[in-house]
Amino acid sequence: MLSVVPRPVVVRAPSKVNLHLAVGDLRDDGYHDLTTVFQALSLADTVTVSAADGLSVSVVGDDAAAVPTDRTNLVWKAAELLSAEAGVETDVEILIDKGIPVAGGMAGGSADAAATLVALNAYWKLDLSRRELDGFAAKLGSDVPFSLHGGTALGTGRGEQLVPVLTRNTFHWVLALAKGGLSTPVVFRELDKLRAEGTPNRLGDADDLIHALTTGDPRQLAPLLGNDLQAAALSLNPALRRTLRAGVDAGALAGIVSGSGPTCAFLCSDAQSAVDVSAELAGAGVCRTVRVASGPVPGARILDKAAKG
Ligand code: C5P
Repeated sequence: MLSVVPRPVVVRAPSKVNLHLAVGDLRDDGYHDLTTVFQALSLADTVTVSAADGLSVSVVGDDAAAVPTDRTNLVWKAAELLSAEAGVETDVEILIDKGIPVAGGMAGGSADAAATLVALNAYWKLDLSRRELDGFAAKLGSDVPFSLHGGTALGTGRGEQLVPVLTRNTFHWVLALAKGGLSTPVVFRELDKLRAEGTPNRLGDADDLIHALTTGDPRQLAPLLGNDLQAAALSLNPALRRTLRAGVDAGALAGIVSGSGPTCAFLCSDAQSAVDVSAELAGAGVCRTVRVASGPVPGARILDKAAKG
């Protein structure tokens, strides 16, 4: 019998920055309750699935050597979840092209997992609904559902329960990528430790920030950006204080640590300002490299139109 080898499917998935990240107390299951506002940014990874004998993962692009290619990679777990659901063999190669910093607090691993779910749903013609994919995404990690959805969204629970947030306009960002990464669980543990010692303050609610997003005015948004994990990331990597100062000195409206860090995200007044800030920051010697990005952008999407139908 002739078997038809499906065409490769290519999916792009965005990075994210948390505009507001309020962390509650440690729960019995090891997670923290969050109230967070995510925004998906144009800095993205691309995942291609294609025919192979057995399952394999390979990685190219920025910092590729730092990404595991074995079953500890979330894309591997995503493939195993969907193949078990579909009852198909995992005869696929998953190629990840990294544009998102590795262990950078920008949901790079989550983006790859979300992209793999979308790619394999099409590749194996599973026809799973968005809601079903959400269920798989939440099993894989707290940020994976947002990587599927993109846009701007309020996340609660572990961060996996999402409600879209209305925004006007595109916001312009400069990202300062650090040497090395920070482990998310280690940063959460550091925050628990700092809180046990009596510091630092906790963020309030996100109401004002959500209102500022509807105005589309980055000057209104800038003073409202906040991240409870920032104190923990700075405690683990004190050099980030200099990076944050340098971005504001270079003309950004505000700077925050992105998620669990160590990437620093700077909100700029417009696209030209972002280019200017990135040039000055690149010359300041306070980070490994800089990127310009904008948001909100869509979540994980198939790029290869021919493979869609
Ligand atoms: O969900 P995910 O596997 O990406 O989370 C990685 C780690 O980050 C968790 O094991 C936990 O230590 C920490 N985390 C947390 N509270 C959250 C999300 C993540 O403590 N809401």
